[in-house]
Amino acid sequence: MNLRDTLKINEEGHLEIGGADTVDLCKKFGTPLYALDYAYIKKTALSFADTIKRKYGDGAVAYASKAFSATALYKLFSGLGLYSDVVSKGEIYTALKGGMPADSLVMHGNNKQEYEIDYAVSEGVGYIVIDGMDEPGIIDAIAKKYDKLQKVLVRLNPGVEAHTHHFTQTAREDSKFGFSIKSGAADELIKSLFSYKNLIFSGLHCHIGSQIFDREAFGLANAVMTDYIKKLRDSYGITVDVLNLGGGFGVHYTDKDPLYTAEDYAGYVDFIAETLTANLLKKDIKKPFLIIEPGRSLIAEAGITLYTVGTVKDIKGIKKYYAIDGGMFENPRYALYRSEYSAIIANKAREEFSETVTLTGKCCESGDMIAEGIKLQKAQRGDVVAVFSTGAYNYSMSSHYNGNLTPPAVMIKDGEADYIIKPESCEDLIRNNNIPDFLN
Ligand SMILES: Cc1ncc(COP(=O)(O)O)c(C=O)c1O
Repeated sequence: MNLRDTLKINEEGHLEIGGADTVDLCKKFGTPLYALDYAYIKKTALSFADTIKRKYGDGAVAYASKAFSATALYKLFSGLGLYSDVVSKGEIYTALKGGMPADSLVMHGNNKQEYEIDYAVSEGVGYIVIDGMDEPGIIDAIAKKYDKLQKVLVRLNPGVEAHTHHFTQTAREDSKFGFSIKSGAADELIKSLFSYKNLIFSGLHCHIGSQIFDREAFGLANAVMTDYIKKLRDSYGITVDVLNLGGGFGVHYTDKDPLYTAEDYAGYVDFIAETLTANLLKKDIKKPFLIIEPGRSLIAEAGITLYTVGTVKDIKGIKKYYAIDGGMFENPRYALYRSEYSAIIANKAREEFSETVTLTGKCCESGDMIAEGIKLQKAQRGDVVAVFSTGAYNYSMSSHYNGNLTPPAVMIKDGEADYIIKPESCEDLIRNNNIPDFLN
């Protein structure tokens, strides 16, 4: 269980988040409900940002907003001095609406569309990360149209294999992301950039995977990236001003994972700063501006999802199901990657975890599960389930499958909760539906 100062069990035996009783939250806002703890997000973001400044120097933390893209989060992170990584026109739009300065945005994407690049350049996005041989020409032409100089980074595949779930590894040689250093594709692309008048080559990017606990993987990536920076300098006279090392820091989902405090998370940055500084010194390279892009580690553990228990089905000797009023439409991660979660019966939080149950959703798919075979308290219809560490890649991966409405999200500060995502209505669901004339 992932309890801490602002996520605890109160005197009534109820789970409390950010000073608010989860049972009261459910009464006020209904279920399913995503609930995010302001204090925890702020503490974690500041511990990352302070550690970069203290241990490395010039650098920035860019919130990987694919984890949860919402205007309030861009507002919160930009207020704390963070940048943001964005991967679509929609995320850029949301970031700008949330008050994130355009020049603090780093745009990714392995297949950016021209309309997205056009929007990014016209709005003044800080960096576009090139991930396709034809992208320089497209970005250059668009920058020329707006009479702008566009700073670009190049996404590399350092060939480092992080020890994590297969589907979340992105830096192996056969990845759809990045230019291979080994094959020479990166050299070819980077040398070509200097023929474009409206592009400024600023530096390099890599992202070696997700849910990584093995810090050595980041040390290895640093070594490869600094070797490559040296090669660019020594072989071609090319300087790297910005080094973006991506995100991917692992978080606690179940007791199999280490349980870090917000301060402990800064240990990832500490390690990166230390190994990078040593590599730069050894190779006599001038310190580039360092960007890291945590998504999950900034927000996953700040979030819980609250549900109401419906049907309890005990298939004797086989399985016990607690059916909740959510499911794969608001958290598809179990269905996608068999991701594991831990949970609690929030209104019976002090009772014994006596049952082994499967938390199943309300969708018409037998794979519609949130967690399988987990320990929980004895529950009945009407009880409240809280699933931990759902702040990242839940809301942002939600769908309307089976005509379910995406749940609202609240942020809680000092016991006060307010919407960051308002509830949807059935009207919202059919807003873009259309009946062609020939059907009338
Ligand atoms: C380019 C890039 N940066 C950062 C991230 C964030 O990763 P995480 O949420 O695991 O920190 C991702 C996630 O896929 C990514 O693709």
